[in-house]
Amino acid sequence: MSSSSSSLRIQPLSGTLGAEIAGVNLAEPMSERLFEEIRAVFYRYQVICFRDQKLTPEQQIAFAQRWGTINVNRFFARLKDYPMVAEIRKEPEHKLNIGADWHTDHSYDTNPAFTSILYAKIVPDFGGDTLFASMYAAYETLSKGMKETLSSMNARHSSRHVFGYGTTDLESRKTGRINNPRQATQDAVHPVVITHPGSGRKALYVNPDFTVGFEGWTDEESKPLLEYLYKHAGQPKFTCRLSWTEGTLAMWDNRATWHCALNDYHGQRRVMHRITVEGEPLSRV
Ligand code: SIN
Repeated sequence: MSSSSSSLRIQPLSGTLGAEIAGVNLAEPMSERLFEEIRAVFYRYQVICFRDQKLTPEQQIAFAQRWGTINVNRFFARLKDYPMVAEIRKEPEHKLNIGADWHTDHSYDTNPAFTSILYAKIVPDFGGDTLFASMYAAYETLSKGMKETLSSMNARHSSRHVFGYGTTDLESRKTGRINNPRQATQDAVHPVVITHPGSGRKALYVNPDFTVGFEGWTDEESKPLLEYLYKHAGQPKFTCRLSWTEGTLAMWDNRATWHCALNDYHGQRRVMHRITVEGEPLSRV
């Protein structure tokens, strides 16, 4: 069932999160009013997508800059002449893809990413979908006791074990990483439960790729509780699935979601242009 808000036609992707927005050409100049309508839909659904867009890198950059300051990616290959655009590429001979496990972009940064904006240039004939999970739903369905326990806790996040020294093997470099381990030094501590700065809703903010433990706990002590939270948060009922078509532009809110890119299209090419917009320090309240 789709619903309307002014010129926007909105089709939810699942009962929990995600929506497709029709009736917008992102290549055209966008009024402040239309932008604010899109922002409201984004905050409501956490993941939005627009189909059949024909965008140059300049136009994708201009759209991203409406949302904030662009973060120049430290670990992924950059599009030639457009350092603000990271290229997420998998070639037919590659085995690995980028982002195959559940994660939240840049949670290892002091000011973690706000939104990532991914534009599909070349898609496989089948497969290559992206899954998203709502960290609002994950938080809201925890017990009162667990919410109370987590409410005063912080977690440590790191990029070292993913992008740092000793992690860049040949295969992962082939699939789009640049060998930049010196940049994988910025660890960060964030509340385990954050209040989203835009929506005011509480969200669980730990993720399987980058959270390494709770503040004041060893990694080993942290593991059982983190694993419980990951199992809880990754339940299918908290997710939606986006099937890409060429020209689809999707964006997600990294403060309220996880995502993972399915690696089920071996032997085919998939090329996406990603821009990530900087966020602000996260807070409990
Ligand atoms: C990512 O940003 O993690 C990649 C997502 C995708 O390629 O679908």
